[in-house]
Amino acid sequence: MLLRVEKISKEYTSGIFRSRRHRVLEEVTFALAQGETLGLVGESGCGKSTLARIILGLTPPSSGKVFLLGQEVFSRGGRLKKEFFGRMQIVFQHPESALNPRMKVWDSLLEPLLLQKKNPLKEEHINRCSKLLRRVGLGEEYLCRYPHELSGGQIQRIVLAQVLSLQPDLLIADEPTSQLDVSVQAQVLRILKDIQVENNIGLLFISHDLDVVGWISDRIAVMLRGQIIEHAPAGLIRRKPLHPYTRLLLGNYSMSDSKKASRAVPRRSMELDSGIFENACVYFSDCPQAQQECRQKPWLQEVSDGHYAACWQAVRK
Ligand SMILES: Nc1ncnc2c1ncn2[C@@H]1O[C@H](COP(=O)(O)OP(=O)(O)OP(=O)(O)O)[C@@H](O)[C@H]1O
Ligand SMILES: [Mg+2]
Repeated sequence: MLLRVEKISKEYTSGIFRSRRHRVLEEVTFALAQGETLGLVGESGCGKSTLARIILGLTPPSSGKVFLLGQEVFSRGGRLKKEFFGRMQIVFQHPESALNPRMKVWDSLLEPLLLQKKNPLKEEHINRCSKLLRRVGLGEEYLCRYPHELSGGQIQRIVLAQVLSLQPDLLIADEPTSQLDVSVQAQVLRILKDIQVENNIGLLFISHDLDVVGWISDRIAVMLRGQIIEHAPAGLIRRKPLHPYTRLLLGNYSMSDSKKASRAVPRRSMELDSGIFENACVYFSDCPQAQQECRQKPWLQEVSDGHYAACWQAVRK
């Protein structure tokens, strides 16, 4: 297995006078094979980017482990071990922060190679960079440009050229096209997918757009408030979503869901605010199907072949 994420939890402490602990991730576990794409989907603030930052060693987890090709990636101090530098890469949401504004495109393409102590000759380097740019659909003339002379879509292509040049084992794309307009989005996604398939790179693709995730992914994990609540092959999750929250995301709530809603357990917001339901299902306060049993948190269980859901009713179906 290329990547294994085991029971990653993350808590932040906040507050000026009275510090309060704020749990952002709760025991997130999943695996990703070489050359596979796992789509991670969930609403804004559910913890997707935090998870990405933890995997890359940019933020230490409160607990849990990350393994790359069977080896734990963090040292005892919680830092990324040196041997994993460059083997994992990320494409961020905001193209403007992806490249150093004071560097020309070709320096940006050269930088990761220098970090890896690969120092090609100048001519060799120009040829190599031009080839990389052609692969992402840009001409040689872009080599001498600064980031402010490029559009968001062009910057994301250059970031993909960097990926191509470094050949990481794992690529995390954190909403890489959400800042781009639709036509450019499609082009960048196509290039990303092609690069990933051709180079057998494991891709963790993060987005809140299920259509995009469905197109690019082999498997999809749905996240809600720091927990994975459903996990299945992409086709299956879209045809037969099990968790009520996934159904809401897909926009296919059925009549039977609303009938069940009338039988739902009454929940007073004060009780919720007071934290009485800390042990309840993460969707308890909003679920139209919530029952008494949902006051106990369900865990992610295999409902059918490769299809996991954390919902008591899905498990019993
Ligand atoms: N350094 C931090 N200190 C305290 N809280 C933080 C910190 N970083 C993130 N958070 C909180 O963690 C939660 C998850 O944030 P995160 O950026 O991972 O969400 P996300 O799923 O990526 O959202 P989006 O789709 O909007 O990018 C948010 O409530 C955020 O406020
Ligand atoms: Mg994010």
